[in-house]
Amino acid sequence: MSNQPWWRHAVIYQVYPRSWADADGDGLGDLPGITSRLEHLADLGVDALWLSPFYVSPQNDGGYDVADFRDVDPLFGTLADFDALVERAHDLGLRVVVDVVPNHTSSEHPWFQAALAAGPGSPERARYVFRPGRGDDGSEPPNNWQSKFDGPAWTRTTDPDGSPGEWYLHLFDSSQPDLDWTNPEVHAELESVLRFWLDQGVDGFRIDVAHGLVKADGLPDADLALDETRDRSSLLPMWDQPGVHDVYRRWRALVEEYRGTQTALWGEDDDRMLCGEAWVQPAEALAAYVRPDELHQTFNFSFLMTPWRADALRASVDDALARAGAVGAPQTWVLSNHDVGRHATRLGRSDATQVAEVEGIGPHDEQPDPVLGLRRARAATALMLALPGSAYLYQGEELGLPDHTRLPDEVLQDPTFARSGGTRHGRDGCRVPVPWASDGPSLGFGPGEPWLPQPPEYADLAPGRQRGAEGSTLELYRRLLRVRRELGLGTTTLAWLPDAPPDVLALRLVDADGVPVAEVRTNLSDAPVPLPAGEVLVASGDLDDGRLPSDTTVWTRPAGS
Ligand code: NOJ
Repeated sequence: MSNQPWWRHAVIYQVYPRSWADADGDGLGDLPGITSRLEHLADLGVDALWLSPFYVSPQNDGGYDVADFRDVDPLFGTLADFDALVERAHDLGLRVVVDVVPNHTSSEHPWFQAALAAGPGSPERARYVFRPGRGDDGSEPPNNWQSKFDGPAWTRTTDPDGSPGEWYLHLFDSSQPDLDWTNPEVHAELESVLRFWLDQGVDGFRIDVAHGLVKADGLPDADLALDETRDRSSLLPMWDQPGVHDVYRRWRALVEEYRGTQTALWGEDDDRMLCGEAWVQPAEALAAYVRPDELHQTFNFSFLMTPWRADALRASVDDALARAGAVGAPQTWVLSNHDVGRHATRLGRSDATQVAEVEGIGPHDEQPDPVLGLRRARAATALMLALPGSAYLYQGEELGLPDHTRLPDEVLQDPTFARSGGTRHGRDGCRVPVPWASDGPSLGFGPGEPWLPQPPEYADLAPGRQRGAEGSTLELYRRLLRVRRELGLGTTTLAWLPDAPPDVLALRLVDADGVPVAEVRTNLSDAPVPLPAGEVLVASGDLDDGRLPSDTTVWTRPAGS
């Protein structure tokens, strides 16, 4: 077994607190609900959970609009509930990673309220990005930047005397003003927030919008066509600016101070981990975030954005491994999260072999094929969980949950929907509360009406229906995770097998001593292909009389080993 630090190979399960389990019956998930369900994660066989924000927030962007970085929103519970969650998770051998949101605060944060009250030129405004408008009367935004949720990235303020005032920058919703990272006070505050949660016993952080903190000097206009494609984020003035790396060097040194403070729990494997959410292209630019003195990991969104095609997937895996390897970092893999359509839904789209569209689907859009989607999703997960490095799972994917693709407009809460004038359906479909039971008003999510309605098909996907059932998605995930751990797949090296038929991904995983421990094949062609010799360890679907059907992945023990 490997003696590499946990973050180089861990499987980390994302919990979106609003939607995992509701203990108090208000329809929204909460921390006691999560604690009550942690055994599900221990039983599944993951190493850690990552909690999306549960901090004090008006919830305009699902909690990514934080009004107090150091406290739990009463909607989710109390700091004592958080302590209980961490203690229970640690007892079960699960590490706890929390979100930190350093790019912006909520407009309800006391700093922003003070900035509005203090007026232009004040130290309070200098914590945010306030600027006068363009044009004779300042009525034009200071530059052409667009919010990621549509519309301009600037909102004009009103001065205390009622006249129009300065504008403030918000790369996301207007209720999420961007902090100014040229201000040392901002650095000091966020570092103190990291220490606060480390002192509560957390094992790491997922850093929201990690590539956005530092903006180009002078805030020049952006090439908006480039912003749309996300192809070269480093050429845009609001993303991936060189100064952001200094922030992460300091943060790395900070979290390293905590190494060795939890050896009673973890022995020598006692690192705190930083994972950046950085939508940065090309891959070399992303790899710069995981140089040895910066972050431990970044999400590899290119894999998630790859069409379901053998050539594209192979190139994506190769590129990702090479880039991370060049700086000595582990690669990470992810297929679903709270911002993109779930992969069981995406891969059922009619265009899934050509593009990887991550936008949510609404009732007026073409509906995906659920059977094909789930079949491919299981194959994709089986491929992902074999790959060297660390992997992220999103709550409910182990149940095979699809998105809710028919949510009516009236229930939508993602600001994307309103800001785009209803042209973008938004991300609510992948955030629907998890079914824990096959009946009851919210399928076991909690005693009240869930904050978003669940689709009827969720009833059959509850864990009770799947546990112990041969061929169920839950049992597939449990087996994949068990075999991955037993064989130490996360710390292996990947070699492509030369004999693979076209449209079949075939790879061998080799341990540190050069011993092949498993072979993996994913059939992306539309006909079955012969199975290799060797014991079948796990397959994502039924095997067809010694053959591997299309859209299926199999792990085998290499013949002779
Ligand atoms: C990324 C988060 O994952 C997303 O949910 C949020 O809307 C934006 N960052 C802004 O914080």
